[in-house]
Amino acid sequence: MTLTVSAPGKAFLIGEYAVLEGAPAYVTAVDVRAVAHDASDDRPAASSAVVNCAHARTAAFLEARGAVIGSAPAVETGGFTLGHRKLGLGSSAAVAAAVVGYHLAAAGLELADDETRAHALALAQAAHAESQGGTGSGADVATAVHGATIRFVDRKVDAVTLPGWLALGFVDAGAPAVTSSFVQAVRASATHAAQGYREGMSLLRAAAAGFAEAIAAAGGGFASLREAVALHVRGLEVLQRAAAVPILTDAIVGIVELCAKAGVAAKPSGAGGGDLVVLFAPDRGAIDRLAEPLRQLGWPLLGELRAPSEGLRTDARVPTVSRLSGFFKLSPAARRRAVAEATGLPPERLEALAQARLDEAHADHMIENVVGTFELPLAIATNFRINGRDVLVPMCVEEASVVAAASNAAKMIREGGGFAAHSDPPWMIAQVQLVREGARRSAVDVLAVVREHEHELLALADAAHPRLVARGGGARAIEARVLADDMTVVHVLVDCQDAMGANLLNTVAEQVAVRLAALTGWNPGLRILSNLADRRRAHVACRVPAAALAGKGFTGPEVVARIVAASRFAELDPYRAATHNKGIMNGVDAVVLATGNDWRAMESSAHAYAAQTGRYGPLATWRVGDEGHLEGRMSLPAAVGVVGGSTQAHPVAKLALEILGAPSAAFLGQVMAAAGLASNLAALRAMATEGIQRGHMSLHARAVALSAGAVGTEVERLATLLVECGEIKVERATALLATLRNPSQSS
Ligand code: MEV
Repeated sequence: MTLTVSAPGKAFLIGEYAVLEGAPAYVTAVDVRAVAHDASDDRPAASSAVVNCAHARTAAFLEARGAVIGSAPAVETGGFTLGHRKLGLGSSAAVAAAVVGYHLAAAGLELADDETRAHALALAQAAHAESQGGTGSGADVATAVHGATIRFVDRKVDAVTLPGWLALGFVDAGAPAVTSSFVQAVRASATHAAQGYREGMSLLRAAAAGFAEAIAAAGGGFASLREAVALHVRGLEVLQRAAAVPILTDAIVGIVELCAKAGVAAKPSGAGGGDLVVLFAPDRGAIDRLAEPLRQLGWPLLGELRAPSEGLRTDARVPTVSRLSGFFKLSPAARRRAVAEATGLPPERLEALAQARLDEAHADHMIENVVGTFELPLAIATNFRINGRDVLVPMCVEEASVVAAASNAAKMIREGGGFAAHSDPPWMIAQVQLVREGARRSAVDVLAVVREHEHELLALADAAHPRLVARGGGARAIEARVLADDMTVVHVLVDCQDAMGANLLNTVAEQVAVRLAALTGWNPGLRILSNLADRRRAHVACRVPAAALAGKGFTGPEVVARIVAASRFAELDPYRAATHNKGIMNGVDAVVLATGNDWRAMESSAHAYAAQTGRYGPLATWRVGDEGHLEGRMSLPAAVGVVGGSTQAHPVAKLALEILGAPSAAFLGQVMAAAGLASNLAALRAMATEGIQRGHMSLHARAVALSAGAVGTEVERLATLLVECGEIKVERATALLATLRNPSQSS
């Protein structure tokens, strides 16, 4: 039985620096986790200073109580990164807590018990301080152990309930700084710039006190919370002048200013200089509306990062390992076993795939006039790593080489740290067409009426879906455009959470249309979702070291140059862009299909998006990076869900989602985009070097060998013979197979 224990990362809500002088800090746990688990498989055992310290201290503690302690666990901190860059979310504190928690749980202690938590906190804090040279306040370790949101003062921890009206968001402001040097510089300024230091600290103290009052205020205190956060930023300004360290970088200042214009409060989390900015708003919509303006300036809203999160706990599954060497050589049954082991899913769950069928009765309810079912192969692409987390990617496709190519490209991308990904908020568009048909009001007047009634229309849309609203989704914005003198269209933008949303959007459109007709006097025409899901994109990027691309008689830099030229070709020519995008959709659609999502919706969305500038272009583009590496990026509309439709009803789709680790819809979109970008890289690399046919032919030959009746080892042998003779046809394969089976016939 494997044991898995995890602890969350953290974000400082307020009280940084001042906490070092005994002021309270408010810190919340975020749902990225350090995961400690048995190092029994071939994963590298962790050996960082913090792991060693936590291991040694817990060993001493348990041995003194007569317990026997095993070796140090392996620890995954994948979720703490964006691509290859580690975010300032307190990973080392979470690692310390996870390692301590792992040993305590292994010794039979219950992690949820107050007493166990107190031991865990003391051990993890000591280990963390020892490994970090003792610069921090310990608030991060306390959050990793306790989870949720805490008030931390003089090492005392109290749980805090954040008010229901408060929405939190997190934005990546770019490069992180070494914050321990900031803390040292600020401390030193207490002597050489005493006045500035005192002034800064008192502003920060006042800010923390104001924050505390605002979150405790009955009936909502957003205005005072916003003031407290602004005071905190002023305190940091003063402190950075005193200490002469760049606590507030240009990016942080830019984010704070942009948010302020939208009435959203923002401040850096932690010592500053770094990557994470916390946003505070009176509703989620206010934060999500900033996603696009922030993204355009290069500061992605990390929508996947949610707070608060649970503290130290045992988990049901180990983190997935996607690097499965030799996987392709295994039999399907052996691959199922390998996937079970790599994901921590029970082997019998994977074994169900051997039998998993869409039964006829079920199929008969899905569509009309059913006469049977249609099967396609389901495969697993390996090597994918997204924001530091490994995923095994289920792909359902009829075309040979798609899965192998994606796995191969994902391996090259992994050498550069894997994929960096983030998602837009899950906003979809419900459209209401309005037609004039003799109405008095002009089209421009219609827009004005719609604007005036925006709040009423949003409330009406929400009333259609109370359960969605309760889950945190709902209508976010109304937009209207004039299409012609006698035709306008109204868009209702709806946060669909984890659903694809087609049905709920259509209900919204029908509901709102009735009121729009009454308000404008225009007649409602069509009321339906738009499949151009340009507000719900997954954004992926990767950087591939040139050396990882070398081969096929070409050096790494040569391959980089050729791939960049191939990208330019697609950017300049829609005829090429169509094929370039087809290669991307090879990867995307295979995941869409495997997870029971609507691939027609995905296709129409992707191609409409590719033509959004008025000229059809490539979804993914490639450039040379500063260090000569290859950089690829893609934004892909991702109107997909993990609830509803076939995603849970189809037995194989359900299992595919389990293999992916029960992802959110946003993460599923990122996986699809990553599969698309990998497929594109594989195709461009092959075409820019030896040409696509050679690789395709050997895979095609395997398919032909199977069609000719080859089994087991015959398949590879026959495929090789077919490639050698250059005639990959079933008749030829049948003849060659007969010879293989009975060599005496050959003469
Ligand atoms: C074949 O399915 C896909 C490719 O044509 C894609 C491309 O040309 O980029 C190889």
